Amino acid sequence: MDEKLVAGVANLFKVDASLSPRREPLPSSEVFRKGYHEVMLCADFPKRHVESCRDRDLKSYHQSLLSSGEFMRKNEDKGFIVAMIGPRGTGKTEFATRISASMAQRISVMYCKAMKFFVALKETYNREVKTTEGEILKRFTQPELLVVDELQERSESDWENRMLTHMIDTRYDRMINTILISNLSHDAFQKSIGDSIYDRIIETGMVVECIWPSYRTK
Ligand SMILES: Nc1ncnc2c1ncn2[C@@H]1O[C@H](COP(=O)(O)OP(=O)(O)OP(=O)(O)O)[C@@H](O)[C@H]1O
Ligand SMILES: [Mg+2]
Repeated sequence: MDEKLVAGVANLFKVDASLSPRREPLPSSEVFRKGYHEVMLCADFPKRHVESCRDRDLKSYHQSLLSSGEFMRKNEDKGFIVAMIGPRGTGKTEFATRISASMAQRISVMYCKAMKFFVALKETYNREVKTTEGEILKRFTQPELLVVDELQERSESDWENRMLTHMIDTRYDRMINTILISNLSHDAFQKSIGDSIYDRIIETGMVVECIWPSYRTK
């Protein structure tokens, strides 16, 4: 075989350690020492949900959320994209926090609202800010589980669509896990997220439709 070709192909598989998404998961003793609470707050999960899910009986979650949780735990090494969609107050954010907490001992986890990603990117366009767009993308494409909440809260401009697709597609390429949360209906969500990401959700995960009464108004 052509030696140049072999060398070229080998280069394709060279890994830049600084770009590796596989940070060492926190050792369980450290999780134990720091406490679940602190680990989850450091990963930006909302304090409200970190506290509310801590004592909630697993049985009180809807069966479709529990099944998706089981799927996610089984597939955390394969790189899933799971979408939780539906009306307000159905427990999407709390369950995403709960499932992330159950994985945090093994893999790195992070929570953000979609808007935070766009604001962080826009900040880099200010000349006085030293952080680059690449650094922001890196921040969002490193955690082995990223929860992107409130996806309906965006303008859906071409720029936003491209950046979001790029971020999620990079995570898909790296075989790391993403949970997307939105209040939209199935059709509206599919349209808003775009064909490219929707296709990847169907390939690697699922859309969980949370259409039951709100816990807030109970
Ligand atoms: N299984 C449950 N049983 C009882 N209460 C729950 C359950 N799951 C969540 N809750 C509570 O219901 C409220 C709404 O939950 P959460 O904020 O997770 O809903 P959501 O679907 O993310 O809503 P939104 O779409 O408005 O963001 C919270 O106060 C939460 O603690
Ligand atoms: Mg929510």
